[in-house]
Amino acid sequence: MDDLDRLTNSLLAEVATTDSAAAVEDLRVAALGKKGSITGLMKTLGAMDAEERKAKGQAFNAAKDRISAALDARKTQLGQREMDARLSFERVDVTLPVRAESQGRIHPVSQVTEEITAIFADMGFKVAEGPDIEDDWHNFTALNIPPNHPARQMHDTFYLPPKDTGETILLRTHTSPVQIRHMMSGPPPHRIIAPGRTYRCDSDMTHTPMFHQVEGLVIDRNIHMGHLKGCLEEFTRAIFGIPDLRYRLRPSHFPFTEPSAEMDIGCSRKGGVLKIGEGDDWLEILGCGMVHPKVLEAAGIDPNEWQGFAFGMGIDRIAMLKYGIPDLRAFFEADVRWLRHYGFSALDVPTLSGGLVR
Ligand code: DAH
Repeated sequence: MDDLDRLTNSLLAEVATTDSAAAVEDLRVAALGKKGSITGLMKTLGAMDAEERKAKGQAFNAAKDRISAALDARKTQLGQREMDARLSFERVDVTLPVRAESQGRIHPVSQVTEEITAIFADMGFKVAEGPDIEDDWHNFTALNIPPNHPARQMHDTFYLPPKDTGETILLRTHTSPVQIRHMMSGPPPHRIIAPGRTYRCDSDMTHTPMFHQVEGLVIDRNIHMGHLKGCLEEFTRAIFGIPDLRYRLRPSHFPFTEPSAEMDIGCSRKGGVLKIGEGDDWLEILGCGMVHPKVLEAAGIDPNEWQGFAFGMGIDRIAMLKYGIPDLRAFFEADVRWLRHYGFSALDVPTLSGGLVR
């Protein structure tokens, strides 16, 4: 065995023992790099005569190719091994059940929004949306609340700096502007609810500057107060899970409905404890009415052909009532201890068939 064979064999043995891509590259440099052992042999060719150079040159090149190929093969093999190790390490068993101790909880506002949506979806309502930053026209004027109307003061509006065009913009004070946007987005009939954030400059136990409302709107032919009454009766009984829940529609006033009403549900306040569905007291839960002809006209709908009803209620308030949560401000403090107590499991998806009341 000559020197070349010995060197080649020892290099090939070394290749077989490398244990990382980096070790393979180190060995490549040691054998085939500028100062490598094989490269060193190549350099001796210059001093040989033509005959010898031809024979040795071929042998050196063959050895170089063998070693280079062995290095490449080893590198691929190690890469594959690394990948296999990583894949088995990072493997997740997708058949495992969700961990019961999972930290995240669904906020009561999200849960109640889902509950409300499930009930109205069952009655054929779709969910509509509008922007939090509204213009004066959608939030007030189109809803039959003209400039200087007392309702504007009542809403304690957060105004934003006017647009370059001089247009007044604000944080919507209620979800009612979504009625207008939806009616203008396509021809009747319409049957939507619009849950979302609303804003008023107000803060105490039962008011926060940001809160949530859900708006309802039905526009069709020959719609009357009977439809409104049936729809809201169904809703209140479903959301509170009380099939014979007492309620009444009490005459009221809103600029965007005529006639207008507020809905009260039966409750008891004995001993300072509020119990829904018991006793002979009343609790106001929403505003509603027949959409005012001026509102239909503002949205481009002919009031002689189409009628409808609308309603609006506070989602946070429904959540407080339903789940016995005393202080509204805690809803928005992002305290995980509070959320762990009042929150819901992500698996507790509200459905009518599964039940909305826990
Ligand atoms: N927008 C009213 C408010 O924020 C609630 C309301 C009352 C909405 C009557 C309606 C309605 O659609 O018909 O106080």
